[in-house]
Amino acid sequence: MKGKLIAFEGCEGSGKSTQLRLLSEYLTERGVDFIMTREPGGSEISEDIRRIILNGKNTAMCDECEALLYAASRVQHVKEKIIPALDAGKLVVCDRYIYSSLAYQGYARGLGFEFVEGINSYAISNCPAYMTVFLDISPKDAFERKHGADKDDRMEQLGLDFHEKVYKGYKALQALHPDICAVDCSGTKWQTAENIKKLLIERHVID
Ligand code: TYD
Repeated sequence: MKGKLIAFEGCEGSGKSTQLRLLSEYLTERGVDFIMTREPGGSEISEDIRRIILNGKNTAMCDECEALLYAASRVQHVKEKIIPALDAGKLVVCDRYIYSSLAYQGYARGLGFEFVEGINSYAISNCPAYMTVFLDISPKDAFERKHGADKDDRMEQLGLDFHEKVYKGYKALQALHPDICAVDCSGTKWQTAENIKKLLIERHVID
């Protein structure tokens, strides 16, 4: 594969959407050949799976089903969209990837990293991320900045305790995987955007 896959990770309200919008503008200005995509979703079938996963009415969904649906959505997305773009030499920027499954389902839901790695083995071995940018802000600070959670989103409804666990999960993953680069998000959105650009230049993702 000629292109590079960069994943963005963070807790709810970490400012990921804003940062990805700013990055997209910057990459376009610089003439970088890139696509921006997201998980769960990013392809028609994966977006259908996303609607099932996030539907606030699906309160009976068990944790294993949730983890498998995220993995199913991912494998379709990887095969249909990410690998062809990488083969064409593009930079692929993905809003969430495997570390979301490890932090949310593996750590916070308690399914364990091994189980989640197992069901994601296709993406892990055929399409690893070149690097992962982790937007580092605690859920408490993030929710305060965002003025609360979205009531229609099954994952956001889970409350602060769950999201604190997700944050701990990311921190545990960061200690295990040096490809995860944390970016401090306590400053303004412009300062965070600068930190991200610097990191991508340092890691030879862009010049
Ligand atoms: P989204 O609205 O895209 O959230 P955000 O803007 O915070 O990225 O919803 C995606 C939700 O799915 C979010 O709560 C994180 C969660 N998620 C997992 O639990 N596991 C995963 O593997 C992925 C990709 C996302």
